[in-house]
Amino acid sequence: YTVDWDVSSVETGQYEHFMLKEIDEQPTVIRNIIGKYQDDQGQLNIGQELEGLTVPKRIYIVACGTSYHAGLVGKKLLENIARIPTEVHIASEYLYAKDPLIEKDSLFIFFSQSGETADSRGVLNQIKQQGYRTLTITNVQGSTLYREADYKLLTHAGPEIAVASTKAYTAQIAVVALFSIYLSEQQGLEGTIDMFQELRTISIAMESLKDMKEQAKQIVDDYLTGHQTTFFIGRQSDFDVCLEGALKLKEISYIQAEGYAGGELKHGPIALIEDGTPVFVVITDDNVAKNTRSNAQEVKARGANTCVISAKGSEEEGDAWVLPKVNPLLTPLVSVIPLQLISYYAALQRGCDVDKPRNLAKSVTVE
Ligand code: G6P
Repeated sequence: YTVDWDVSSVETGQYEHFMLKEIDEQPTVIRNIIGKYQDDQGQLNIGQELEGLTVPKRIYIVACGTSYHAGLVGKKLLENIARIPTEVHIASEYLYAKDPLIEKDSLFIFFSQSGETADSRGVLNQIKQQGYRTLTITNVQGSTLYREADYKLLTHAGPEIAVASTKAYTAQIAVVALFSIYLSEQQGLEGTIDMFQELRTISIAMESLKDMKEQAKQIVDDYLTGHQTTFFIGRQSDFDVCLEGALKLKEISYIQAEGYAGGELKHGPIALIEDGTPVFVVITDDNVAKNTRSNAQEVKARGANTCVISAKGSEEEGDAWVLPKVNPLLTPLVSVIPLQLISYYAALQRGCDVDKPRNLAKSVTVE
């Protein structure tokens, strides 16, 4: 494999900021991934990179920040499609775990945009010394995590310049989705989904969101103006994406944001809801849509200004944003985009340095 990073990808071009450019690049990135991992017959072409890798009994995903959030979605894909029990760990926590119980025939997967994150590298070293197999999913060919892992898969997202990660998140999820299909094929499991078709549908859905910037801007004006604290609530995959939405917002707009599981609000955070508190509610998962709707009611009854982001088929009148419907396992690939855009416009509204937020670094090479 070669990675084609052309000069235009390190210039903002028509865009005011790298972040917005990178948000808009997401449908192209998904198509790139399809192009890299599909052969002429339409089959998955990933075996070369994974030669010699037998199906593990258990998977441990290790990552930091946004990559950790992609790992949460990856767990659901690996468990649902490949039927392999999967744990997700924050690297800096796992690094100091006291005598963790690890199943013998395990695979450790490192998710990292840069491939240089010190905490993840620390775990990789430890784990290799203990003789476990390692796989890195990264955007940077030749990076440390890339070089030091037994197996590697590239995300082919092109350089990500903005400190706040966007396209690396969606790219990691798309690649782990294909890896899940690979593991499922290796086991001869029946009824796997046509992942390339699903990803093509996703790229079309993402493409349609490029025209929704005014809507994102309006949501920022309507809900976030004058507020310094906010919540993102959802259940299952919608909860996973809420964690990422909240991280994005705090990183670049400095608004305090908390991603919370819908059903868990009543055990504490609901005490913080006051008149006008903005609460973003993500509802794309039909199985839990009713439950999350009732969580939205609970906070609304206490004065919250709820902004519901739903998907076709489960929408209700009054929802602020209705997303195209995609495969339930892959909804974060689409639902993250409004959250990225809302963060972007919130940061702009507040005059923040979108691409270089204070106190943060693109790649954290110290523990
Ligand atoms: C830094 C960046 C985050 C990123 C995290 C993990 O904190 O600011 O955007 O998610 O590191 O980085 P990695 O390169 O390992 O994905």
